[in-house]
Amino acid sequence: MAQKVILDVDTGCDDAVAMLMAGHHPALEFVAVLPVHGNVHLEVTLENTLKLLFAGKLEHVPVYVGANAPLIGPIIAGDGDQIIRLPFPESSIQPQEKHAVNFLIDYYMSGEGADTIYMPIGPLTNLALALRIEPKLAERIPKIVTMGGAYIGGNTTPSAEFNILADPEAAHIVYSSGIPIVMIGLEVTDKAVIRKEDIQPIREIGTPWADAAAEIIDIIVNIHLKYPGRTGGIVYDACAVAAVIDPSIVETIPMHVDIEINGSYTRGRTVADRRTRGNAPMNVDVGISIDREKFLKILYASLR
Ligand code: RIB
Ligand code: CA
Repeated sequence: MAQKVILDVDTGCDDAVAMLMAGHHPALEFVAVLPVHGNVHLEVTLENTLKLLFAGKLEHVPVYVGANAPLIGPIIAGDGDQIIRLPFPESSIQPQEKHAVNFLIDYYMSGEGADTIYMPIGPLTNLALALRIEPKLAERIPKIVTMGGAYIGGNTTPSAEFNILADPEAAHIVYSSGIPIVMIGLEVTDKAVIRKEDIQPIREIGTPWADAAAEIIDIIVNIHLKYPGRTGGIVYDACAVAAVIDPSIVETIPMHVDIEINGSYTRGRTVADRRTRGNAPMNVDVGISIDREKFLKILYASLR
């Protein structure tokens, strides 16, 4: 039976690839998508999400619009490939009337979501709000697999990865909720480099969704190749979807993870305790590496 997933997205080039994978890989059932603020303002993450679903032949996936700003802190915009309006035609898809937060509460509290993995690949605002409204939700969400965080160093500040820095208070609520979390952070995603030559096999697949993915990955690779020391592009959020399709491609270590919400230099850091003698419970399976070749195979298989 296909694994059900809900994606909470801030589309975003890499979110777009993640959605195409979730929507087309036979091992997954893409239950719903929840656009939230993040890489760009909500109106653009929503527009990008609708365009992507249309171009990628995923019109059947319901869209529930989420939070337009972090709980407390300022809006932190992304940069590079993240600020792009996706180069696809206007979409005729209409979002649902229900808010993403209400959808999360209704879906999981009804018991319908007992086997559904929740996948935040943007800031964690939607789930944090839902947990504050309905704390019992923490017992109903079986698992979170998220792209976010880093146990060594950040990409938006020396300490913080973007999705966590974009709403550290929300991340604190989610990471301390008791819901089992698999964290696909920068130490994983940075090992899944997609080189220029890796795009050609995607172009050769010939499906509309593979064509869309190739176009987006090409944008990411071209931008990332301008950064010092890069040999290709990082398609962050795609790694989290690949890790749900085949968990064996990612090596994880259980750690206790807290979110730094106060530090003037370290706000948004996922403070991961790698000591085995720590007293705090291991609340997160932290990804430490990924098999790049297997990741590429899953990406190609998703787009067929
Ligand atoms: O740090 C990478 C993450 O930030 C990705 O999810 C990207 O889409 C942005 O949201
Ligand atoms: Ca994202």
